Amino acid sequence: MCDGRNLPDMRPVYPKAGAYPEHAALVKPDGTQVDRKVFVDREVYDAELRQIFGRAWLFLAHESQVLNPGDFIRTFMGEDDVIVVRQRDKSINAFLNSCPHRGNRVCQVDSGQKSRGFVCNYHGWSFGIDGGLRGTDGKVYDADPTFEKAKIGLTPVAQVQNYKGLIFGTFDPDAPSLEEFLGPFTYYLDVMLDNDDGGTEFVGGAIKSTMECNWKFPAENFVGDILHAFWTHQSGAQAILGGAVNLGEKERERAFHATVYGHGIETNLDKVGNTKTLGYPELVEHTLGRFEAMKQRLGDTRARMFGAVSSCTIFPNFSFLPGQSTFRVWHPKGPGRVDLYTWTLVNKNLPDEYKEMYRKGTMITFSPGGVFEMDDGENWEYATRINEGWVTRHQPLHYGLGIGSEVVDSELPGHIYRGSLNDANQRHFYMRWAEFMQFENWDDLQNGRTAPPQKTRLNAEEG
Ligand code: FES
Ligand SMILES: [Fe+2]
Repeated sequence: MCDGRNLPDMRPVYPKAGAYPEHAALVKPDGTQVDRKVFVDREVYDAELRQIFGRAWLFLAHESQVLNPGDFIRTFMGEDDVIVVRQRDKSINAFLNSCPHRGNRVCQVDSGQKSRGFVCNYHGWSFGIDGGLRGTDGKVYDADPTFEKAKIGLTPVAQVQNYKGLIFGTFDPDAPSLEEFLGPFTYYLDVMLDNDDGGTEFVGGAIKSTMECNWKFPAENFVGDILHAFWTHQSGAQAILGGAVNLGEKERERAFHATVYGHGIETNLDKVGNTKTLGYPELVEHTLGRFEAMKQRLGDTRARMFGAVSSCTIFPNFSFLPGQSTFRVWHPKGPGRVDLYTWTLVNKNLPDEYKEMYRKGTMITFSPGGVFEMDDGENWEYATRINEGWVTRHQPLHYGLGIGSEVVDSELPGHIYRGSLNDANQRHFYMRWAEFMQFENWDDLQNGRTAPPQKTRLNAEEG
């Protein structure tokens, strides 16, 4: 008779983070210089999967994608294949898409509705939408008294939480709440998520594409690189608008970078600069027509951000463009490849004809065939490939634009840097990257250089 000592222990295992000070040292402490190894080195990449993708909160889905019990979509957390599924009690959960028998995937399709569960193709084990093992093929298992069906299931993502419709997950049971991870950056997220009573939704399906680049190039581009737009995207903007995108002096003066915990947004506060590039003048008019209502709700600055020339990344790999409403995740697939998932976010209350303009506008601008995406993709692919050169990879990279431009602002939370043409958010992005490499625990992670500033201390330093 079996005494239980040799039965498999099927409890979930969440790998612990370590400390990689040698990798953290690849970024200068103030972020002004980055070693090219971070873009090409396999060891660094493996450490990223452990230190960053193994414990940061990662974007999974918009709740509108899984409206009813059994609705599910597949996505990735780092390189881990994950199923996000609405439960019978209406909560949303996520599981590794991997059978606990031999590891085969249990869900073969990208999404589905009102599913009763998932079946593994290999030996026929089936799982409920709660991840539990339901059925096995044949009497073999039932006849075996040591087979503990109730203790076997899909590995759940350790924590899943919702911020105003956006669902995030983390593999770290010890991670602080999603809101603590986002910190005061929620102030800026609300520009897109809370400018209207009705909430938001994704419209249309996901657009999926592949780029042969390191995941950090697009992430750092969206976190604050408006600088490239006036050069890289000039011809694309001309094709759509019939003229160049130029910001006035006034906008340039008011523009800023805002960053906290490596999340960052840069904005030019010009109200509709990004929206204009979608090519629908009536959508621009509609956005301007909502300005006063948004101002009542969010204040003047954030109302100006909604459609402005601007971009944003939530650390590590979730980005969006206000005004164009493209939301995307850069899924890492090795040091030199990214699988890009793109969606379009709109207010639920927006009339259908305008939703359709955003959906089509996304395809014209930021899709595999979009004029701007092609501009960007070529740059990121060459930046990655060229950095692989043996001598090239030993040369430092310059992230020093706008050193010393940090200001104290009574209204805006986070670290605020005057002007949008600088590298401030990129520096914070890599400082956050280095903190994830360096620190083993969340106490240290939440209290590093990228944490919210002590405004009084900054004042004292300046004085
Ligand atoms: S691998 Fe899934 S049932 Fe065997
Ligand atoms: Fe771009």
